[in-house]
Amino acid sequence: MRIDIITVLPEMLDGFVNTSILARAQKKGLVEIHVHNLRDYTLDKHRRVDDYPFGGFAGMVMACQPIDACISALKAEREYDEVIFTTPDGEQFDQPMANELSLKRNLIILCGHYKGIDYRIREHLITKEVSIGDYVLTGGELAAAVMSDAIVRLVPGVLSDEQSALSDSFQDNLLAAPVYTRPADYKGWKVPEVLLSGHEAKIKEWELAQSLERTQRLRPDLLEEK
Ligand code: ADE
Repeated sequence: MRIDIITVLPEMLDGFVNTSILARAQKKGLVEIHVHNLRDYTLDKHRRVDDYPFGGFAGMVMACQPIDACISALKAEREYDEVIFTTPDGEQFDQPMANELSLKRNLIILCGHYKGIDYRIREHLITKEVSIGDYVLTGGELAAAVMSDAIVRLVPGVLSDEQSALSDSFQDNLLAAPVYTRPADYKGWKVPEVLLSGHEAKIKEWELAQSLERTQRLRPDLLEEK
């Protein structure tokens, strides 16, 4: 899988791309992440990528030309499954969307900034608009990082124990059961007895009951039919 991230703040993503799970996935040759500086594509002699909005509204708007030039250059090299734009008014990112996107080969993520981008880009070049939650970030870089992390860890082989991605919270619309490690008794705080029993069936039963109880209590909306 390949993810191309287009941003005006590449330095905000460089550290993340080169240290996190994304770094491990790239080292294993399973994923390629490329960060592109939008300013490298502008024809403006001052390297500007934004301009004043028509209509006299406040704020600056990211202009068509550099975005179009960058996306066109990428599309000339390979086909893309989705051209994603990060925006608070997009479709809400969730585990099913991460699962779906992890099956794709090539993705572009365009990070929004300023007041927004010229709407014609959204109409003509963007195939999917995604929000990571109902709050407004300064830019789309953190959203691109969140999405890339959630997607890449689902690519087979990225996690050392593949089971662990499958047993995540949300993967069956259930929150995960609690986990514990040694010692079994820490300052009198005890690990549930069943986990020390070695009885596999009983442990599985306990795990499911815990998942259901935690989901019912903390996120009952996940148990409702969609
Ligand atoms: N850009 C600003 N806020 C955002 C959000 N909540 N999700 C995605 N992109 C954003």
